[in-house]
Amino acid sequence: MSAPADRTAWLQGGEAACKTYQPYPERAYRMVLLGAPGIGKGTQAELLCKRFRTCHLSTGDVFRAAKSSQGPLGPAMQAALGYMQRGELVPDETVIDMVRERVECLKCDYGFLLDGFPRTVQQAEALDRMFQETGLVLDAVLNYELPVEKVVERLSGRRTCKDCKTTFHVRTMPPKVEGKCDKCGGELYQREDDRPESIRVRLKAYEESTAPLKDYYAKTGLLITIQADGTPEQVFEQTIGALRDRGKA
Ligand code: AP5
Repeated sequence: MSAPADRTAWLQGGEAACKTYQPYPERAYRMVLLGAPGIGKGTQAELLCKRFRTCHLSTGDVFRAAKSSQGPLGPAMQAALGYMQRGELVPDETVIDMVRERVECLKCDYGFLLDGFPRTVQQAEALDRMFQETGLVLDAVLNYELPVEKVVERLSGRRTCKDCKTTFHVRTMPPKVEGKCDKCGGELYQREDDRPESIRVRLKAYEESTAPLKDYYAKTGLLITIQADGTPEQVFEQTIGALRDRGKA
């Protein structure tokens, strides 16, 4: 089973609506993914979305979709892409506005897995305000942890499909045919921000801005910390086990 909707509404924002849907799940799961860049959030999101029939809402994917779109970009988005390329965080105001514009995706009956948002305490507070306004409640905040050298190894070996965005790893998850996506045959490329100079900036931004979110969510009782060592399937099983222990799966 694949993800329940094609995420057009999230990726394009504004008036855009999802074009393909599957039946709604019995209940909408609403979760946030935390963890350093390259720890495997996107990889886990794919497995979790299949399991819970929910949508992977990644703010990084919105920026990448804007970059590859044909239409004109506003000044805020142009500036955002510059920050992203350097590995820096996009200003809170820009990201919060972008998510607010997509609040219908948070309210959707498929639920959501938010990946890459919130990334600062200010963003988390803005998200809380959106929940208060909409009456939504989070089920869990999944926080993945891994030693930094393993994170760097995962990031530097990542290759992404230009078309369907599936990720591979040159060593641990190589495609069957070098440079080609197993799923759609698309060309694989290395993200601009996966170069060593950007990786260093991203990890520093994570430590300074995103790591404090662990304390923020620990106080709410929603935080579940998972060691991201092991194969994607092993990490996924640990995640499901931890959710079950909390009565959330
Ligand atoms: P974003 O797209 O969110 O990137 P990120 O957080 O840096 O996370 P990644 O997508 O790089 O990594 P991942 O954890 O999903 O790892 P993956 O599963 O691919 O953000 C990009 C940029 O956008 C930011 O830097 C910022 O500029 C901007 N931005 C976005 N949101 C923002 C916000 N809220 N505020 C401000 N700025 C924002 O895995 C990585 C590799 O490891 C892959 O090759 C994979 O195959 C491999 N792998 C995965 N799991 C395993 C495993 N278990 N074992 C071995 N290999 C594995």
